[in-house]
Order: sequence, then C-alpha cells, then structure tokens
Amino acid sequence: MHTVLDSSIQPKPIEQTPAVQTWQLRKVYLTGFWLNQKIESLKSCSLTVYKGETFGLLGPNGAGKTTLLKSLLGIVRPTSGRAILLDHSIGAPLRGSLRDRNVKQRIGYLPENAYFYDFLTGWEFLELIAGIFQIPPSVQKKRIPELLDLVGLARQTARKKQLRQYSKGMLQRIGMAQALINDPELIFLDEPMSGLDPMGRYQVREIILSLKAQGKTIFFNSHVLSDVEQICDRIAILARGELICVGSLDELLGRADVYQVIIKGGKEEQLKEWMTGLTLEDGYWHGQLNGDPQNFLNTLPSMDAQLISLNLARASLEEFFIRQLRERGITTSQ
Ligand SMILES: Nc1ncnc2c1ncn2[C@@H]1O[C@H](COP(=O)(O)OP(=O)(O)O)[C@@H](O)[C@H]1O
Ligand SMILES: [Mg+2]
Repeated sequence: MHTVLDSSIQPKPIEQTPAVQTWQLRKVYLTGFWLNQKIESLKSCSLTVYKGETFGLLGPNGAGKTTLLKSLLGIVRPTSGRAILLDHSIGAPLRGSLRDRNVKQRIGYLPENAYFYDFLTGWEFLELIAGIFQIPPSVQKKRIPELLDLVGLARQTARKKQLRQYSKGMLQRIGMAQALINDPELIFLDEPMSGLDPMGRYQVREIILSLKAQGKTIFFNSHVLSDVEQICDRIAILARGELICVGSLDELLGRADVYQVIIKGGKEEQLKEWMTGLTLEDGYWHGQLNGDPQNFLNTLPSMDAQLISLNLARASLEEFFIRQLRERGITTSQ
C-alpha cells in the first residue's frame, strides 16, 4: 500500500471495471407531520463509474446529487433499485447498504455540510477519525502530518486551533484530510470546492489530480462547472432526480468545430453574411464563422474590416449544461 503523498506513482490507465454501478436507483422522501407528503428526489438512476476514473456529477441545487451519494453510502435508504460498490452488491431495497465493514474501510467521504466536533483541534479530530478506522497510533503519527501537508493546513495550526476557530476553507481542508485518512480507493466528495476562494479551489483540484494519479476512483458532486471541466474523465448531469446525460467531455461537447471570430471595423450587413451570433462589444464584432476561414480572411480587406482573432473552439461545459436544462424547461434551481 502506498501513502496518499507518494508522487512518484505514474497515472494508471482507467480499468473498465466498475467501482460504482447503480440500476434504477430511486429515492422518495416522506415528509410532513403525518409523513404523507412524498418528494421523489431520485428517479430511476442507472450509471456506472469505472475504477480509476474521476467522475463529476453535476446538477442545479436540489437536483438530487447529495441524495444519490447518500444512497450509495447507506446514509439514506433508497426506495428501490440496486447498486454495486467495489464488488459489494447492494440489493433492493437497499437496507443500510454499507453494513459491510470491509467495504467501508476502502471508501472515503467528504460530506456537503460537514459538522465537526468544533471543540477539538484539527489534529485531534483526525486522530478521532483514524481511531474509528482502527489505524494504529504509529501509522497515525506519520499519516496525519502527511495529510495536513497534502491539504495545505499548517501542522502547528492543526495542533493548536480548535475547529470552531477555523475558516470555511480550513474546515473544507480538514474535511478532505479526514476523507483520506484510511487511504481509500474510492472517494466520494460532495461539493468539495464550495465556499472556497480561487486558491482553495485550485488546491482542491490539485489534490484530486494527485489522487487520480495514484489510481484512486473519485466520485464528486459539483455545480462549479469550470472545475469539473478541468479534472473529470466523465461527467453526468442530474436534474430533478433524473440523469439527463452521461459521458466524457469529448462525447458530450463534441470536437472543436466552431471558429470564434473577433473583428474590428466592417459593416454589420456584410459581416452577417459570414458570421452568426454577431454582437458588438467595446467596438469589436464577436461571432461564429459561417464559412471557409481562408475565403473569409481574403474577403476582410474588401469589407474594410480587420481580423483581431480567429479561434477554433467548442461549446463550453457551461453552455452545454444550460442548454440541456433549458431544453427540459428548467430555468431556475430549487
Ligand atoms: N431528508 C430529506 N427529507 C425530505 N426531502 C429531502 C431530504 N433531503 C433532500 N430532500 C429533497 O430532495 C431534493 C434533492 O435534494 P439534494 O439531494 O440535497 O439535492 P442536491 O444535492 O442536488 O442539491 C430536494 O428537493 C430536497 O429538498
Ligand atoms: Mg447537495
């Protein structure tokens, strides 16, 4: 077994062995005083996450992302459906699915709004979690400082400061460290970048990439699309409890096939013959080229227009995400 800090390990290719697989997973919450109101948070959700993969589950607030994660982890009991977690079959209905300790030993979890015992110092908190995993004190002594370094928390701060004195970013870091204390092979992270400043988000991204380089499987929920775009092998979009698409970014967004153009000068009527989505911003025309790039460049002088930039691009994940939701009539989050 290697430690989470071993950077000499080369990235491993993704095996096509499922780490997580679900079939028609469904969760209906019963609420209200008489438990007579039903909220269908997850509808027939079937997906596969392969070993070694970094998988991002996206969706607006209230889409059911946390419910899916909690269902897999046995924190909530799904109403129907079936799942496999690291070769461990979970039947329908999933009764306290993760009773099997051997599976729990191999999993890490960062909850969305983690509540920590705030009178403990960061170090004590990690010792507590390590104790739950029955990690021997001699191993803890090595692993805790390593994890603190990995998540960018000063060892001294972790030793001295109680968690109640931690900022949101520091709590997120200690949460990340506790999720990794057992050197898990499958890691669930619920909104790991939420509430972090750009530097914090960058560091979380780096941590995820270093875990990926060690061959770990990472399943994370997020609504920060730019982060997802940079680190995920595959993504899924969940909306109103339904999976609306699953695939790699290349599969979902396609190859780069649109030229984004910026032009100075020229007349709108003439430019419109060559460009779609034409807008004027700060004196420059922006749009997508509709025609052969070389012919367009040759024509520019006759239009009294000057090329500022011409870029081959594809739709961003954000554009794709918004379009997918709009096509289904979803224009606001819950
Ligand atoms: N314990 C619960 N009881 C009742 N409804 C819940 C509970 N947890 C979540 N929900 C509802 O389920 C839906 C999905 O919530 P959630 O899984 O937290 O979404 P997300 O993580 O995508 O924001 C929401 O409508 C939410 O109000
Ligand atoms: Mg959530």
